Amino acid sequence: MAKTAEIIIEGKSYTFPIVEGSEGEMGIDIGNLLEQTGAVTLDFGYKNTGATTSAITFLDGDKGILRYRGYSIEELAEKSTFLEVAYLLIFGELPTPGQLSGFSGDIKNHTMVHEDIKKILDGFPSSAHPMGVLSSLFCAQTAFYPESLDPNRSKEGVYLSIVRSLAKMPTFAAWAYKNEVGHPVNYPDNSLNYCSRFLKMMFALPAEHYDVDPVVAAALDKLLILHADHEQNCSTSTVRIVGSSKASIYSSISAGINALWGPLHGGANQEVILMLEEIKKDGGNVDKWINKAKDKNDPFRLMGFGHRVYKNFDPRARIIKKAADDVLSKLGVNDPTLEIAMKLEEIALKDPYFIERKLYPNVDFYSGIIYRALGIPVDMFTVMFAIGRLPGWIAQWKELRENKEPIGRPRQIYTGSNQRPYVGLDKR
Ligand code: SDX
Repeated sequence: MAKTAEIIIEGKSYTFPIVEGSEGEMGIDIGNLLEQTGAVTLDFGYKNTGATTSAITFLDGDKGILRYRGYSIEELAEKSTFLEVAYLLIFGELPTPGQLSGFSGDIKNHTMVHEDIKKILDGFPSSAHPMGVLSSLFCAQTAFYPESLDPNRSKEGVYLSIVRSLAKMPTFAAWAYKNEVGHPVNYPDNSLNYCSRFLKMMFALPAEHYDVDPVVAAALDKLLILHADHEQNCSTSTVRIVGSSKASIYSSISAGINALWGPLHGGANQEVILMLEEIKKDGGNVDKWINKAKDKNDPFRLMGFGHRVYKNFDPRARIIKKAADDVLSKLGVNDPTLEIAMKLEEIALKDPYFIERKLYPNVDFYSGIIYRALGIPVDMFTVMFAIGRLPGWIAQWKELRENKEPIGRPRQIYTGSNQRPYVGLDKR
């Protein structure tokens, strides 16, 4: 017997079907609620609203489960590579050796960007935040590849846009950094793997030999895997709603980059390090800052803590915390902010304020400590998040388009003035 939900409005009963997911999640299908009842739902921040059905990523916030296409994040972080995970997310299955080498080979063929992109880059002052430069350069691809604007693009054409996106994102990111530090840009070295190629574009200097540290490249690859998708988070929902208007993949993802930039979302990893530095400067007085985070009259929040979905722990935070330890000891880096972060976590997790609100470290709490140990500057942290999240954005955009989902157009409850007559300027 199919499950249903009953809503009673002013004594009248309405029944709606319940949709069950492959992991037993239930959703009330209110597709014809307005037509049946004349009412809409109201759900600020969509905390209780499912926007779609998706086969890409599964989260269980209570059990701290994260799976990409059914594979656990723990196994993928330990055994897979970022490009393999990107293939899995986008095409739905782990690639065969032939598929993976074809995919990474196609990506290598598109790592260069049109020289005219440099003219756009040169227009940015070195004070420009790399996230703003990244979203602009990424969207500029619509100018260089106008065929991408075709809403009915062929499968082959969409594949080419996917490959170009993955290939050029690291180049755009490294160039945004070079623009900020006033150095000449580097061109991609296709003899290297995905992460090493990026690191060399980021840090190589003219007339200096640069060897990528394999420990750094491996740590970055793991971090990118951990950020690759996260179901209907703020930036992915942005990519989906822009894509639902049949905008190109480049403009949809550029919108996602901008949504990720916010300090409540991907921008939190940068804010965490600034917060830890502030606490360190303040003598490491963790209790004082915990109390500030609890004080409703104080705008300070414990950045990197709390999550809309995870209410016990963020599995990514656990993996990153362990990786932080490993990477810092391998690189011989002693970062006092790691101790401060661990002390913050230990005290917060025993504090009723955080326990009652189910606030735990999220993916951003420890990631900045590793990025810094890898030599990544603070305002490039969210750029790293964007590089990692790109396959997820692509996969979700592709799923929406293949499922021919309608344009996203939520309703509202109007609370403004009722009708009133116009009053001339002379009478106001
Ligand atoms: C990401 O959605 C995703 O999946 C995102 C992400 C991904 O992979 O895409 O996981 C990546 O964005 C992680 C989150 C990064 N952001 C931060 O670390 C910023 C700090 N955290 C918060 O601002 C907050 O926890 C959010 C934004 C993450 C979640 O906000 P919610 O779900 O809207 O919860 P809320 O703001 O309504 O808070 C509920 C209560 C409030 O207290 P009361 O009004 O009930 O008294 O918890 C409090 C909040 O004040 N609270 C915090 C807090 N986070 C929530 N108090 C102090 N410090 C915090 N960090």
